[in-house]
Amino acid sequence: MPNALELKAVSKRYGARTALDGVNLSVEEGQTIAVLGPNGAGKSTLLNIALGLLPATSGSATVLGRKPADALRGGRVGVLLQESGLLEDVPVKELIAAGAGMYPKPLPVELTMRAARVDDLATRPIGKLSGGQRQRVRFALALIGDPDLLVLDEPTVGLDVEGRRALWQEVRARRHTTLFATHYLTEADDYADRVILLAGGRIVADGPVDTIKSLVGGLEVRFTLDGADTGPLWTLPGVLRVRVEGGTAVLQTAASDATLRALFAALPDVRDVRTAGTDLESAFMTLTGGA
Ligand SMILES: Nc1ncnc2c1ncn2[C@@H]1O[C@H](COP(=O)(O)OP(=O)(O)OP(=O)(O)O)[C@@H](O)[C@H]1O
Ligand SMILES: [Mg+2]
Repeated sequence: MPNALELKAVSKRYGARTALDGVNLSVEEGQTIAVLGPNGAGKSTLLNIALGLLPATSGSATVLGRKPADALRGGRVGVLLQESGLLEDVPVKELIAAGAGMYPKPLPVELTMRAARVDDLATRPIGKLSGGQRQRVRFALALIGDPDLLVLDEPTVGLDVEGRRALWQEVRARRHTTLFATHYLTEADDYADRVILLAGGRIVADGPVDTIKSLVGGLEVRFTLDGADTGPLWTLPGVLRVRVEGGTAVLQTAASDATLRALFAALPDVRDVRTAGTDLESAFMTLTGGA
């Protein structure tokens, strides 16, 4: 069984700008993978190369052991792009039925429309739909082929609570591989087996959510900075990292008790002190060099 996706030293350059820089990635069949990273990190570039919609400048990509474009043409891949046009005048059900016709083993149209929560929009022309309704149609079109690889670029943008819940329920029910990009870290935390963190076109972390969190390590101590200098915070015992979010200092520490004692000694007037386990958001900020 070939891997669902295999990228070897894939780079993408636009003139002098490097969008993707030597990315290696092996995705086994059946995994659900979240691709995270700040705006411009290269998430869409990675997904589009995996789909064969964008040529890499160097390196190689295979999907299910074939060239990505061949896998896509062969109907093995389902796609929801970040920005994709839809035929405006066609009614929803007609569009989804036409989509089904392009795959060798599509799912039943009615079933897929229910799964994507567009069954009540069947006769409405696409052009008359709201943004979130269009996004649901895009999701139905991604699902309809029962693809071996499902690639979703920010799939829940514009969806309401029920739309998001329905979408993740479908993704979870799948036996096949799903690769999705998102800015919602809770979605990665809740639904991905594995998280890939991109920054500046490179993979800066790759592993199960818990591993990513543990890379950043230990506990966090937060407090209101009140204009205090952050320099001395580095010297507190146990401190691994220091960052500032708005007016709040966030210390990553391997020894929170020692850090706290020293903090109270160093800043007797310190206020709003809180400690918590590292969450994915903090891991993200630290590993992508944000803040
Ligand atoms: N057609 C293009 N021409 C030139 N540069 C491009 C082009 N497409 C993307 N880029 C650049 O490549 C980099 C990666 O873009 P990409 O769309 O992959 O980012 P992203 O991680 O998907 O961001 P977002 O979170 O905003 O969707 C960015 O610096 C972007 O400006
Ligand atoms: Mg993108």
